[in-house]
Amino acid sequence: MDFKQLVAKNIADAANIDIQAVENALTTPPSAELGDYAFPCFILAKQLKKSPAIIASELAEKLQGVNSYIDSAKAEGGYLNIFINKAEYANAVISEVLRAGEDFGRTSEGNGKTICLDYSSINIAKPFHIGHLSTTVIGNALTRIFKHLGYKTVGINHLGDWGTQFGKLIVAYKLWGVREEVEKGSVLALMDLYVRYHEEAEKNPALDDEARAWFKRIEDGDEEALSLFNWFKELTLKSAKKTYDMLGVEFDSYAGESFYTPYMPAVIDEMREKGVLRIDDGATIVDLSEYNMPPCLILKSDGATLYATRDITTAIYRKNTYDFHKLLYVVAYQQALHFKQVFKVLELMGYDWVKDCEHVSFGMVSMEDGAMSTRKGKVILLDDVLNASIEKARAIIEEKSPDLEDKDEVARQVGVGAVVWLPLYNNRIKDIAFSYDKALNFDGETAPYAQYTHARCCSVLRKADISDIRDIEFKGKLLTDPESIELIKSIDALKDAIHSAAEKYEPYLIARRVIDICGKFNRFYYEHRIIGEEKDIENSRLALCYAAKTAIKVGLFLLGINAPERM
Ligand code: ARG
Repeated sequence: MDFKQLVAKNIADAANIDIQAVENALTTPPSAELGDYAFPCFILAKQLKKSPAIIASELAEKLQGVNSYIDSAKAEGGYLNIFINKAEYANAVISEVLRAGEDFGRTSEGNGKTICLDYSSINIAKPFHIGHLSTTVIGNALTRIFKHLGYKTVGINHLGDWGTQFGKLIVAYKLWGVREEVEKGSVLALMDLYVRYHEEAEKNPALDDEARAWFKRIEDGDEEALSLFNWFKELTLKSAKKTYDMLGVEFDSYAGESFYTPYMPAVIDEMREKGVLRIDDGATIVDLSEYNMPPCLILKSDGATLYATRDITTAIYRKNTYDFHKLLYVVAYQQALHFKQVFKVLELMGYDWVKDCEHVSFGMVSMEDGAMSTRKGKVILLDDVLNASIEKARAIIEEKSPDLEDKDEVARQVGVGAVVWLPLYNNRIKDIAFSYDKALNFDGETAPYAQYTHARCCSVLRKADISDIRDIEFKGKLLTDPESIELIKSIDALKDAIHSAAEKYEPYLIARRVIDICGKFNRFYYEHRIIGEEKDIENSRLALCYAAKTAIKVGLFLLGINAPERM
């Protein structure tokens, strides 16, 4: 049991109610003078038929001297405020971190449950651009967070590998492409071919007929068409893989849109049998006017399937394959209507598990620094952004710590961390403007600041030269000064942050907590000497330092960010 649970148990016993209800309601008072925990007694008023103020004062009385963890309890306007015993609290939190190490905050609540996450989901033959940053890093963070809570996760890169654009690309390649050049230029060469196609097709619309024919050949499994298409796919994935490696992102499945082609006919038949389809002007649709939505297009008049047809099929396939507890689509808010329609159609088909499908949406990323290495002035390549950030991080490190070993690796971790941080530090739905100066500010609310604080903790621990920190003898009663206690509370609060992040699909709750721990650590560090104090004090502060380092590292890890030991 952790400290909060202990307090909850004491209140629950005193009030004779369920501990879970107390734990959920337990909050932190706005200021430390008011207490360490506050329990809003109005939630019991109805049940006990008493005013919150009376309940609070009765409970306060019952809790006096109940055990060594609670120093005192006071009633304050319907709230029961609890003052904990700081020494006991410090002991409890630090022992927990020492015991758990990098498993701090890990639970088994998700055991036996599978969460499918559809994220990154890049498009074949298109470069990995900044528009795919958020889905990639939010999806990766959520995957790590759910794993930490014991869930089995299935990360799925739902590749955009279906559509008439691949017919166009084949036409362009056959007309103007040179194999070696495309091989070398990879996805950028494909993009150039695609751009050229559009320029030429404006003058020569007959190209579009050819493109349609080639796309049909892909669909029909024609050997030449398929081998070209697969080659485009290979080139795209090979270059994306480099970006994923840089970001530390992995997937369990790359089943993209084309994967579902063979599964669609049965699903369309099923929809027809269930009576959800209508023919409208030659097209096959699901009428959603009753739900104030435009119709969901299932088949065009020429029989071609659509993005929605594939997503409906995909969801059913995933339910059958993974029997998910939740299926999360980490996709930009622009697709909100699409997912609403898809979910509604699944509901009309009678699938009650659609309640477990959620669109986890997010805002846009734009560049604040103005012009940068863009091609055709439109796409901003994620690789370019990452590399520029690494280069700038390297320059800062060169200046701050010229003697550092492994400068390249540290610059990589810091540069990448700075970029990854952006979509993770704010509420998902917020649009973000990217600026290198802000992202790499070592004193701001940034990944480099958190990494730097982590490295500072490591450096203190290195100087102390203890063989195994986990055996260190520390005394909670030596850590009751305000800076230490504030730091301990912040470390302890990481567990709640992980929880809420999973519940709300909001990794920023962890990012903010990490920054708070860093701030509290730095205050502690400036106010108190660690090394060179009397042994008992030194050891206790070292243990606290280790707890802070571990919490920062765990938090960053859950966000998909590395924490170098030296910077
Ligand atoms: N490839 C799409 C895009 O880049 C995102 C796909 C999202 N996932 C899905 N199941 N629809 O916009």
